Amino acid sequence: MLSQTENTPARAKLFQPLDHPILLARPERVSDFSVWRGHIPFAMLLIELLRPGVLVELGTHYGDSYSAFCQAVDALRTGTRCFAVDTWQGDDQAGFYDDEIFNDLRAYHDPRYADFSQMVRATFDDAASRFADGSIDLLHIDGLHTYEAVKHDYETYRPKLNAQTAVVLLHDTAVTEGDFGVHRLWDELRAQTNAASFAFTHAGGLGVLVLGEASREKLRFLTDADPDDADRLRLFFERLAEPAILAKGLEPTRRELANAEEHLALTRAELERLREALALIENDREALRAHAGRLEMHRDQLEEALRAETEALRVATEALISVEQRPLNRLHRTLTGGAKSGG
Ligand SMILES: C[S@@+](CC[C@H](N)C(=O)[O-])C[C@H]1O[C@@H](n2cnc3c(N)ncnc32)[C@H](O)[C@@H]1O
Repeated sequence: MLSQTENTPARAKLFQPLDHPILLARPERVSDFSVWRGHIPFAMLLIELLRPGVLVELGTHYGDSYSAFCQAVDALRTGTRCFAVDTWQGDDQAGFYDDEIFNDLRAYHDPRYADFSQMVRATFDDAASRFADGSIDLLHIDGLHTYEAVKHDYETYRPKLNAQTAVVLLHDTAVTEGDFGVHRLWDELRAQTNAASFAFTHAGGLGVLVLGEASREKLRFLTDADPDDADRLRLFFERLAEPAILAKGLEPTRRELANAEEHLALTRAELERLREALALIENDREALRAHAGRLEMHRDQLEEALRAETEALRVATEALISVEQRPLNRLHRTLTGGAKSGG
């Protein structure tokens, strides 16, 4: 439970949300799958506060975190050069996946952000040589989360960090189940470095390690917050991210609606096609009916002609029979002696 504390002028000066409208930006790309959505408002604020020259993300997958960084860089015109490094093949924890995810993100990313951002499809180790020592201002590590893997990623990129400005974000610092080991590295780094730090605990947890002196002042409101304020800040950023999380909750319904609309459009098109086919059938039926009428008339004429011919044939046959009958009758009369004269 948070305690009521006095809102002194000194305290209020630390962080004024109304000075940062980027906090209210709607995330333009959220996937159904990433818990990272819970850190989007903070990610956008960070871009505004740090205005990093170079941002590198290790582990991008669907692009929830990376798209949020890019959206803020674009909206705030910070001039940040951004790099998303991933094999886009997956790993033991994220699962392995095919090219569809990479292609989908690329189709979203390139038209919007290609001016200042690159998707680097490579292992973190192979991509490291692309970045000069001391060149990275903001590093987000979100690859495989075993202790060994995340330690290796941190150590590989440590020399690449700009000593004056560097801030490192580690995702999943709050996950302690199974072989998730970011929390161990996080504890070690806080103990070993003299960096200022702050850890969010929602959405898997996000550790913010402020290594560069020049960035300390900018993030002091977080790193130097007293426990009550720290809790309020955690809750503030968690609550602020809820629309992005709810957007995810609505996503299946939106997709169902889109599918239903698509289905309706197809059904309407099919209905239209059937109507047209029915009209053609009606036309054909009319034509057939007319044709049948003509055939019936023709049949009646033929029957009439047949009857007339039959009648004529009968009359002719009878006449012929009567003609043929006469000599026979005569012969008969002769033979029977009854005949006096021929008939
Ligand atoms: C947890 S996901 C990243 C989540 C993402 N930041 C988000 O906003 O949801 C981890 C990603 O790291 C990638 N990955 C893990 N180890 C890697 C390595 N050594 N090299 C390149 N990519 C790696 C995987 O392919 C996977 O897409």
